[in-house]
Amino acid sequence: MIKVGIIGCGFMGTVHANCYNILEDVKVVGVSDISTERAEKIVNLTKSKFFADSDELINCSEIDAIDICLPTYLHKEFILKCCNAKKDIFCEKPFTLNLKDAEEVILKIKEAKVKLMIGMVLRFWPEYTEIKKTIDSGKFGKLKILKCTRISAPPIYGWDNWYFDPKRSGSAALDLHIHDTDYIYYLLGKPESVYSLGKKDEKGWQHIYSSYKYKDTIVNAEGGWDLSKSYGFMQEIRGVFEDGTVIEYNSKTQPLIIYKEKNSELLNITKDKINSINTDGNISEIRGYYNEIKYWIECLQNNKYPERVTPEDAKASLEIVLKEIRSAEIGKGILL
Ligand SMILES: NC(=O)c1ccc[n+]([C@@H]2O[C@H](COP(=O)([O-])OP(=O)(O)OC[C@H]3O[C@@H](n4cnc5c(N)ncnc54)[C@H](O)[C@@H]3O)[C@@H](O)[C@H]2O)c1
Repeated sequence: MIKVGIIGCGFMGTVHANCYNILEDVKVVGVSDISTERAEKIVNLTKSKFFADSDELINCSEIDAIDICLPTYLHKEFILKCCNAKKDIFCEKPFTLNLKDAEEVILKIKEAKVKLMIGMVLRFWPEYTEIKKTIDSGKFGKLKILKCTRISAPPIYGWDNWYFDPKRSGSAALDLHIHDTDYIYYLLGKPESVYSLGKKDEKGWQHIYSSYKYKDTIVNAEGGWDLSKSYGFMQEIRGVFEDGTVIEYNSKTQPLIIYKEKNSELLNITKDKINSINTDGNISEIRGYYNEIKYWIECLQNNKYPERVTPEDAKASLEIVLKEIRSAEIGKGILL
C-alpha cells in the first residue's frame, strides 16, 4: 500500500484525490493547505488527516510520497523539501518557472535518489495516447501536419488570483499552452526553431500562437485563457499524414475520428472507471488524470523511475515554451 500526502487542495488537489480514491493499493493519508476549508473537502473525500503544517506532512514517517498541487511558483521550494525528507514526488506542471530552477531541482532529486514525475497529462489522455500510437505505427506514412489548440475561459477559480500574476503562474503561455508544447515534444522531439505571436497585458501572455520547425512536419499550436466564461474549455488536435489521412479530436464537438481516403473510422476510446467529477476548475473530465496517477503509483509500487515523463522531459518542454515567449516578445523566430 502506497501512502500519499497531498499539498494544495484546490482544483488539481481535488482531481488527484478523486483519482487516488478509485485506485487500488494506494491511500491518501494526509493533506495540507493554508486554507482549512479547502483541505477539509479533501479530508472528507479521502478520509485522511489534515496537517496544518505542510512540513509536518512532508516529514511524516507514515507517508511514502508527496503530491504537490500548489501554485507553480511554490513547486521548487516544496520539491526540495521533499528531497530533504527523501520522499518520492508527483508535482503538477509546469515544473518550474525558469530553467535555472529546473536544473537545480534535477540535481537535487538525483542527489536524494527520489523519484519525481511532473504532471504532463496529455501523455496519458486517451485520445492523445491513441494519436501517438497511430503516428508511431507509421501505417499512414509520416505525419505531415499537426495542429493543436487549447483555449479556455480565464481560470478565475485559482487561490488568491495567482493565475493572473505572471510571476507566479507564467501566464497562459507557460501554464496552459505547455501541455501542447510538451505533447508535440513527446511526439516529435525538440523543434529546430519556434516562431510565436501572442497577446500580452498586465496579466502576462494571455494567448499564444506558435509554429515549430521540424524537418518533415508542419506544426502549429494555439493556447489561451482569455475567452468568455460561457465558452468554457476546449482542446483540439488534428494530424494529417503523408497519404492524406486525417486524425482529429475536439473535446467540444467531436470524438477521435480517422478520416481515410474511402471511409472514416470512429476510434473506440475505452471508458475509464470514472469520467467526470465536480471541481471548481474548468475541466471536469478526469480520464487523463486517472491514467497519469495510475502510472505514477504503479512506478512506485514496482520501484521504477517514471520514464514516460522524466524531469528532463519537463525541463525540455519548459525550455521550448520559454523560447516561444521570447519569440513573441522580439517578433522573430528563435533557434533551439
Ligand atoms: N495538469 C493540468 O491539467 C492542470 C490543470 C490545472 C492546474 N494545473 C497545475 O496545478 C497546480 C495547482 O493549480 P490549481 O488549479 O489546483 O490551483 P488552485 O488555486 O485551485 O489551488 C492551489 C491550492 O494551494 C493552496 N496554497 C497556496 N499556497 C499554499 C502554501 N504555501 N501552502 C499550502 N497550500 C497553499 C491554496 O489554498 C489552494 O487551495 C498549478 O501548478 C497548475 O498549473 C494543472
